[in-house]
Amino acid sequence: MNTVNRMDNFTIGGDLEVRRLGFGAMRITGEGIWGPPDDPEGARQLLRRVVELGINLIDTADSYGPEVSENLIAEALHPYPDGLVIATKGGLVRTGPGEWPRDARPERLKECCEASLRRLKLDRIDLYQLHAPDPKVPYEESVGALKELQDEGKIKHIGVSNVSVEELDQARGLVDVVTVQNRFNLTDRASEDVLEVCERDGIGFIPWFPLATGSLARPGGPLDEAAHAHDATPGQVALAWLLARSPVMLPIPGTSSIEHLEENLRAADLTLAADEIDAIGAAAA
Ligand SMILES: NC(=O)c1ccc[n+]([C@@H]2O[C@H](COP(=O)([O-])OP(=O)(O)OC[C@H]3O[C@@H](n4cnc5c(N)ncnc54)[C@H](OP(=O)(O)O)[C@@H]3O)[C@@H](O)[C@H]2O)c1
Repeated sequence: MNTVNRMDNFTIGGDLEVRRLGFGAMRITGEGIWGPPDDPEGARQLLRRVVELGINLIDTADSYGPEVSENLIAEALHPYPDGLVIATKGGLVRTGPGEWPRDARPERLKECCEASLRRLKLDRIDLYQLHAPDPKVPYEESVGALKELQDEGKIKHIGVSNVSVEELDQARGLVDVVTVQNRFNLTDRASEDVLEVCERDGIGFIPWFPLATGSLARPGGPLDEAAHAHDATPGQVALAWLLARSPVMLPIPGTSSIEHLEENLRAADLTLAADEIDAIGAAAA
């Protein structure tokens, strides 16, 4: 039987080797990704467990909290172990719980990056991602700000997020884009065209919302059959399907629970047969 083995590593930007299943640190904040979590020490324990389990790609952003996620990462993990890649982002502002207006003016992006450097206690950010294009600012100007930060040595690699193929092309005309972070999961594949470009050109593709906020982890859906067959959970099948979908796929499931973290990581040990991958994809489409 043909099988696809998903748990290899991926090297971001030619020099940051990470395991392909990372951790999204958006869910360690308060309700509506606003303010501190109910149990800050629990969040720090979760982050320490992430690293203990060998995960070495943590995704965050200045806007998660805001500031809360980055602060907790530094409190829990600094000084950072060798090889840990903290990928943060700038370009959104927070006006209240669940509100995410965009502001990617060059001067603001530079301030955001400086503030992330301070909060994360870093001299240089390994992967800095432009959180989203800002319709009020020409995209080249926002990307140009990241190029300046890179030239100044404040960021090592540049990623983009929430982009179309055209916007990705535009960014790549100015800088070496090493990752793209777009919404993508079994039931939402609108960014398939962007993923294809990433796969063709060896750009890391970070699918946010990999579990569709947990709905793909619930029993009773199209993943049940494969889950039973592998003695796994539907959420593990959803993550294994993503890993199998492309060798450039770097899922970052988010959770506030150590139990869910451990369950999600076990998805990396699940090997789906090629016909199962197709069947799961078709059933969930
Ligand atoms: N670039 C962007 O614009 C953007 C946007 C959104 C997110 N992101 C990034 O992507 C990461 C992942 O996205 P996401 O957090 O929105 O969505 P997600 O990973 O698809 O889902 C997270 C939700 O699923 C639940 N969950 C996780 N594991 C579970 C399990 N094993 N069983 C049951 N429920 C489970 C979590 O609840 P519990 O806490 O109860 O486990 C949480 O509510 C974020 O953390 C963030 O880093 C980026």
